[in-house]
Amino acid sequence: MHGGYLSIIKMIEADIEFEKDAVRIYTEFAEKVHDPQLKELFTEFATSETGHVNGLRRIVQSIKDGEHEVKFYCPVCGWEVSFGKKPEIRDQARCRMCGVIFELVETGGDYDIRRL
Ligand SMILES: [Fe+2]
Repeated sequence: MHGGYLSIIKMIEADIEFEKDAVRIYTEFAEKVHDPQLKELFTEFATSETGHVNGLRRIVQSIKDGEHEVKFYCPVCGWEVSFGKKPEIRDQARCRMCGVIFELVETGGDYDIRRL
């Protein structure tokens, strides 16, 4: 279940593939170089990229599990407008800074907001 997050999920999954390639390439570099400092550097890069893969996977999983808060920046004042973790389309939320009310909508699989 990831209604409203279609484009975001696609972008994150594409980024995960990019990060996995980086892990593979840095690991190869670490295996092929003879200089111990370079070997350590490439190993650190691979470890760092592995962290990115894991972090991005956790974000995707939290979205699919309905644990990710749906929120937008208020187009009026820039404050956060939250619809909670498991909102329904047409739910309303008031910006806590400027007081404008927004309705949650979905277009092409992506959440958006509409000012009421
Ligand atoms: Fe606002």
